[in-house]
Amino acid sequence: MSVHNNFIDGRWVPSSSAQTFENRNPANTDDLIGVFQQSNAKDVDAAIAAAAKAYEEWRLVPAPLRAEILYKAAQIIVARKEEFARDMTREMGKVLNETRGDVQEAIDMTYYMAGEGRRMFGQTVPSELRNKFAMSIRQPLGVCSIITPWNFPMAIPSWKIMPALVCGNTVVFKPSSNTPLSALNFVKVLVEAGVPNGVVNMVTGDADVGTAMTTDPRVSVVSFTGSTNVGRQVNQAAAPTFKKVHLEMGGKNVVMIMDDANLELAVDGCLWGGFGTSGQRCTAASRVVVHEKVYRKFVEAFVARAKALNVGDGLDPQVDMGPSNSDPQLNTVMRYVKIGQDEGAKLALGGNRLDKGAHAKGYFHEPTVFTDVDPNMRVAREEIFGPVVSVIPCNSLDEAIAIGNGVEYGLSASIYTQDINRAFQAMRDLYTGIFYVNAPTIGAEVHLPFGGTKNTGNGHREAGVAAFEVFSEWKSIYIDFSGKLQRAQIDTEQI
Ligand code: UN1
Repeated sequence: MSVHNNFIDGRWVPSSSAQTFENRNPANTDDLIGVFQQSNAKDVDAAIAAAAKAYEEWRLVPAPLRAEILYKAAQIIVARKEEFARDMTREMGKVLNETRGDVQEAIDMTYYMAGEGRRMFGQTVPSELRNKFAMSIRQPLGVCSIITPWNFPMAIPSWKIMPALVCGNTVVFKPSSNTPLSALNFVKVLVEAGVPNGVVNMVTGDADVGTAMTTDPRVSVVSFTGSTNVGRQVNQAAAPTFKKVHLEMGGKNVVMIMDDANLELAVDGCLWGGFGTSGQRCTAASRVVVHEKVYRKFVEAFVARAKALNVGDGLDPQVDMGPSNSDPQLNTVMRYVKIGQDEGAKLALGGNRLDKGAHAKGYFHEPTVFTDVDPNMRVAREEIFGPVVSVIPCNSLDEAIAIGNGVEYGLSASIYTQDINRAFQAMRDLYTGIFYVNAPTIGAEVHLPFGGTKNTGNGHREAGVAAFEVFSEWKSIYIDFSGKLQRAQIDTEQI
């Protein structure tokens, strides 16, 4: 059995708590993957101290040189992609093709941010005065606390850590306790690529670690992806010390299917968007709003296709959908199945835990479809984060848009239609951070902003150059080469 340590100031060290936790395979809980440190505030204190010290040097390394380390990291991840994907499927359950995609997303983001090492554009603008030069540059902020979830165990850390590093910040990283092995793999890559001691530190554990990372005055930035409830706590914890807080939280994303849609395409999209990653994406298509003219036809085809999905261990290439990630996650799914039934939604497919035979030792659940769902029901409004899709009838585009917008979240939305006018109207009127036409709600690319409106986020975006708004601050610089005092235009009567 392997015992894994924290990584602080360039060394692998155990927690001062002398406590550990187990990481088990959600497809087979007999499979113990490893034992990790149940860390405490003291460990976080050491990690922050190391990051604060390392910052003084790292911020002065030219961005193109910082980026070279990232290029090297990307190459190492490419070489180990298969190994990392297998580790990831084993520790969090999603099927191998999807964990390969997760690792690929980390590769893409790492190359992208490495490229930014030679850009990271600021502005040069004309000054209002003669013999004066004006420009702005991005400057790093210092120590960044990075708190990540289990559903994209390598991709999401890369979305945060790579822009943080290329901007010149240092990092304290707390991965989800459900996916510490993928985090460890990722940190080892960074070490091998040449990230100096103290620049990246990893501390595993739970709320004690998170609290210390969000309250310590030496931390300048907190970037968190997880539930809306925990996000609210993070925001409150970080407020008294005025940290910059980036939050990426829940979703209840909608696919709208119009009566002119290519139905086969729409069924494909809803299947992938709803049941990919067992519905455990914040971008998952958990609501499908269908025009009544094609409603029955859609439901029939969708239910038949969902029924045919093969649920099992994600390492088996025949399997389409893996388990829920954990016991609490599976319990949430089962709780919502009951809530939906009690509310009067029609259970058109699934609704049961799978716990016999090959499923006996994992957190498996049937693909589940509720139909004839009223948009006010809880299953149509609350994030379930599992293989449960609610299908809601509508009779116009306007109604579909109203239903789409009628939830507290605003991450991703999509429309299936052949009518460009409808597509553009929906694109304009859905108040979300991401919108798709004739594609499901999942599948965001690393070079565009990622994030959502309302209770999904707090106004920030990650990925693309938008990430720099989180991980850098503007400095405006004025250089006067006139050799005399020039007052700003507002302070003089004449130019
Ligand atoms: C998430 O859902 O938590 O757009 C992230 C997608 C992926 C990332 C999802 N590229 O579905």
